[in-house]
Amino acid sequence: MSAGSHSADLVIVVDAVCEFNMTTNESADFGQPSVDSRNSRCLAIRVCKQRQNFDLAGMAALVSSMSFELLLNKWQALNSSVEALAAIGAELRLRREELKGDSRVRAILQDVLHSIDPGLLEDLDTNQESAALALIQTSFRQAIDLLENPARAPGWNYEDPGILESQGEVSRQIVRGINLVAAQRPDLGAALQKRGAFLDVGTGVGRLAIEAARSWPSLRVIGIDPWEPALSLARKNLAQSDVAGRVEFRLQRIEDLDDKTIFNLAWLPGPL
Ligand SMILES: C[S@@+](CC[C@H](N)C(=O)[O-])C[C@H]1O[C@@H](n2cnc3c(N)ncnc32)[C@H](O)[C@@H]1O
Repeated sequence: MSAGSHSADLVIVVDAVCEFNMTTNESADFGQPSVDSRNSRCLAIRVCKQRQNFDLAGMAALVSSMSFELLLNKWQALNSSVEALAAIGAELRLRREELKGDSRVRAILQDVLHSIDPGLLEDLDTNQESAALALIQTSFRQAIDLLENPARAPGWNYEDPGILESQGEVSRQIVRGINLVAAQRPDLGAALQKRGAFLDVGTGVGRLAIEAARSWPSLRVIGIDPWEPALSLARKNLAQSDVAGRVEFRLQRIEDLDDKTIFNLAWLPGPL
């Protein structure tokens, strides 16, 4: 199909549906200065979204397919969540890393956050900011891994340190949660202060185990996991910590644990 004879909106449709490559001149029709034609597809979709009159139904009619129309509508709805989550993550990163950022982007981020919820990200302490950021990062990274490796096997077999460490940061916050529960449960609080051993099942990169050893100085902590790529990061994280003497990592499955009686507490996550 030729783009030249179409209106601007139609060019966008053709571009999105048929992966038509827009030229630099056609991009300029949208008022975009000096656009690199290699990025033109991405730009075209951006322009579509900025135009309030973007008509997904009309777009689908081009290919005469109800299921394509449905898909486009679903994409539009789902994509709002993707972009909203990315905006939350971006704002959290700017805060956590104390980055100034571009004032124009920061203003847009504020608008987006406000439209999600005016109170969003208010009253968060630094730990909560880190936990929220790690949650968003691990979700995106795991999703991208699936997108890039759709033929992958099921299960926790990630090797990307970004995925493993962001998941570990999420898990680290569990220690704080346990302390909050312990404040309401004297028996748990007492157990955390007694000498003994704490078992972290599925320890991954070991951040929960390391945080546990820091938080509960009377306990030894043993983290087990059958996934060596994560455990090798756990050993590095431990070596950089101040609790190396009280934490042990084992390449082991829970089913193979043979010294169960030494533990007075265990963290066992949901279905593995
Ligand atoms: C969602 S990940 C969490 C990892 C870790 N808590 C962290 O934050 O880094 C679940 C972990 O459970 C481990 N796992 C899976 N099956 C297991 C089993 N049978 N026994 C112990 N760990 C297991 C996986 O290898 C993976 O590291």
